[in-house]
Amino acid sequence: MNAVERLMIPGRVVIITGGAGLLGRKHAEAVIEGGGIPALLDIADEYLSRARETLSEKYPGKKVECQKADITDRQQVETVGNVLLEKYGHIDGLINNAANNPKVEGTSENMKPIRFENFPMYMWMNDLAVGLTGAFVCSQVFGAIMAENKRGGVILNISSDLGIIAPDQRIYRREGLPDDEQTVKPVTYSVIKHGLIGLTKYLATYWAERGVRANALCPGGVFNGQNDEFLTKLTNLIPLGRMANVDEYKSTVLYMLSDASSYMTGSTLIVDGGRTCW
Ligand SMILES: NC(=O)c1ccc[n+]([C@@H]2O[C@H](COP(=O)([O-])OP(=O)(O)OC[C@H]3O[C@@H](n4cnc5c(N)ncnc54)[C@H](O)[C@@H]3O)[C@@H](O)[C@H]2O)c1
Repeated sequence: MNAVERLMIPGRVVIITGGAGLLGRKHAEAVIEGGGIPALLDIADEYLSRARETLSEKYPGKKVECQKADITDRQQVETVGNVLLEKYGHIDGLINNAANNPKVEGTSENMKPIRFENFPMYMWMNDLAVGLTGAFVCSQVFGAIMAENKRGGVILNISSDLGIIAPDQRIYRREGLPDDEQTVKPVTYSVIKHGLIGLTKYLATYWAERGVRANALCPGGVFNGQNDEFLTKLTNLIPLGRMANVDEYKSTVLYMLSDASSYMTGSTLIVDGGRTCW
């Protein structure tokens, strides 16, 4: 096989947690374009239907699995595993992508003006449940299936540039507001994204002999209509001078899922326009 052919993943079933979200749908596109079958696993029914519609329109005739499940609930995750195994006989990849993503442009619960000193316990528990416990549960259930399977498999943990560096809280500040009304990037984001890199190294060494590779991808922020003041502050911190386009991680994701990365395990791949260099 030549270098380009090694990027293909024909018939491989890849589970994508949070698959109906902004980047989850793009990971699904990468899987389809590589010849694989994406299995979108998401808690949000309506997002799942929309994602199925969009993907079917863009890739007519291609298989797309959509499964509603809460990844913090092991039983629901096991059910998804059984459904997919019964239908396809194998699971070949897992992208741990779901998170309570704190969005600057939206009204995420955990992106309100809450200072670290007052960050509520329920929010800490809730964020960690999705971002870390969910990745742990899915790795246990789907990773075990891949480890028992002679085909092996790949786990790809979606961390962040903020899995490498601390958030620069100055970019979230709004002129003229007192400290207690300023939004800060939640502490849970740092803890989860650093934690996923730890999970990656653990899984990579634990399952190396069983043919399951595990790697982490650290994407930088994706442009999604953020306000100009924020954009200017953020892009000043990025050597390439801009946020990522939503399509810009697809090729990296396919590379990490495919045999093109067959000698890569336990690695943390940073794709952030250079932000973490500064
Ligand atoms: N968007 C960015 O700029 C960016 C940058 C770096 C890293 N990331 C990371 O990439 C990943 C995807 O980000 P996104 O922007 O697509 O987020 P998103 O909010 O659009 O998608 C997250 C998805 O996870 C789902 N989800 C939440 N809780 C769940 C649960 N308990 N069980 C199953 N599904 C659940 C949501 O319904 C949603 O569809 C996240 O881990 C995020 O931290 C995003």
